Amino acid sequence: MTLQPDSKDLCIAVVGTGAMGRGIAQIAAQAGIAVLLHDAVAGAADKARDMLAATFDTLRQKGRMSDDAAREALQRLRVVERLDELAGAALVIEAIVEDLEVKRTLFRELEAIVAPDCVLATNTSSLSVTAIAAACAQPQRVVGFHFFNPVPLMKLVEVVDGVRGAPAVGDAMMALARRMGHVPVRAKDTPGFIVNHAGRGYGTEALRVLGENVAAPHVIDAVLREQAGFKLGPFELLDLTGLDVSVPVMESIYHQYFEEPRFRPSPLAAQRRVAGLLGRKTGEGWYRHVDGRQVPVPDAPVPDARPASVWISAARPDLASRARELLATLGVGAEGGERPSGTALCIVTPLGEDVSHCCARQGLDATRTVGLDLLFANERHRSLILSPLTSPASRDAAHGLLASDKARVSVLRDSAGAVAQRVVATIVNVGCDIAQQGIAAPADIDRAVTLGLGYPQGPLAWGDQLGAPVVLEVLNNLFALSGDPRYRASPWLRRRAELGVSLLIAEP
Ligand SMILES: NC(=O)c1ccc[n+]([C@@H]2O[C@H](COP(=O)([O-])OP(=O)(O)OC[C@H]3O[C@@H](n4cnc5c(N)ncnc54)[C@H](O)[C@@H]3O)[C@@H](O)[C@H]2O)c1
Repeated sequence: MTLQPDSKDLCIAVVGTGAMGRGIAQIAAQAGIAVLLHDAVAGAADKARDMLAATFDTLRQKGRMSDDAAREALQRLRVVERLDELAGAALVIEAIVEDLEVKRTLFRELEAIVAPDCVLATNTSSLSVTAIAAACAQPQRVVGFHFFNPVPLMKLVEVVDGVRGAPAVGDAMMALARRMGHVPVRAKDTPGFIVNHAGRGYGTEALRVLGENVAAPHVIDAVLREQAGFKLGPFELLDLTGLDVSVPVMESIYHQYFEEPRFRPSPLAAQRRVAGLLGRKTGEGWYRHVDGRQVPVPDAPVPDARPASVWISAARPDLASRARELLATLGVGAEGGERPSGTALCIVTPLGEDVSHCCARQGLDATRTVGLDLLFANERHRSLILSPLTSPASRDAAHGLLASDKARVSVLRDSAGAVAQRVVATIVNVGCDIAQQGIAAPADIDRAVTLGLGYPQGPLAWGDQLGAPVVLEVLNNLFALSGDPRYRASPWLRRRAELGVSLLIAEP
């Protein structure tokens, strides 16, 4: 293979010099690699080079590149008008339009031009690397090299092996990515690769929560930001991306996995897309946006009420003791008995169950019972879950009490797994199943998710932190109560939970 990732004489080509191709060319040139730039539109590659000249100049002015480094990086970029001028490249990375037939045609044309062992890489996000390679005489030299936007800042790159890809080609691309200052992860060619596959849990489960009328989008967002630690709530994220982009991706991945229930999209999102409520770009999505800024939705007022006495169910002793500790910090001691006294507010601490089910199972009066999600409650924000029968007086007393130290309280209608439990368990489960399918190594799955999606933790480490048996219990209860195969636990999760080992344990 002529692709020697560490060679100081390495020359690569980038075809398609839009947002992605330009970013890839930038980091290659900064890593000392000569780059040929080609675009089908006349003048587009020159424009990209001019933009990179300005970028290098800015970096120089900010002291992030020396004068010599900036000049030399620019000198490494050479625009070529014709495709046959790419003959000397050891690697061609395409970042052209996301269209299977156009990419297949380009690679077929390139095969007639480049050396027999030149590597052909595609930056596709959503197309099959295998399907692109299948158009080539030598599919073993075709590889996915999937960067994220903006390339210089998003340090992750997925190296994707097609079904007929040569392992040595993927190995060389891993090394090249490191030379370019990026963090490579290795994935088998499957819909969504790692990042867009692992990301299926967040939005789809949040949309299910909304579809069950558990809470409004801004409440679900606040819970997931402040209790689970996401930077953006799922509905804020959908508004930022736009439903015109998100809905087709959700539907495409779902169909590519032959209607896998874990990825089932929501009719709510599809309908709002049709209505033009796309998000920030149309001024209205799940939120209103004025001058590009999301208009905040005010919290419901905190009732000025307290319960006369509180009883905590001991059905989950670990969570019940957390509930007692929380109440103690609020200056309230819970009743001691096995059964609640006649008028006490009853608190249950469900794990993957809903409050109604807890009431039925434990023989509690649903009119004065509320649930608390103690897996995710913290000093800033708590989720209060109501049964369909919880009285307004019990609701207000519980709300007033839980907010008495100025914490935010989200009041949710009954929901198995509240909000944070079911969303995070879904994410962990999807991550586990990526590992189970052998799509990527456990450490690469977590790396891809933290760097590519910005989640607070990778799904496998997150499952370990919560406890694999706890996540399994949430999912098993969700599955039992809903009957929805979406919540069936991945064998990867169940086996490690049963064996008492980390979700990051790979198989030989
Ligand atoms: N934008 C993103 O967030 C993102 C992230 C990861 C991957 N990708 C993928 O990267 C690729 C490029 O995306 P982009 O956002 O840079 O697009 P873009 O529209 O900014 O740029 C594409 C460029 O390719 C050129 N082009 C189109 N067809 C061509 C052809 N046949 N030969 C040569 N040049 C051609 C266009 O003139 C344009 O300059 C797509 O496959 C996309 O799915 C995009």
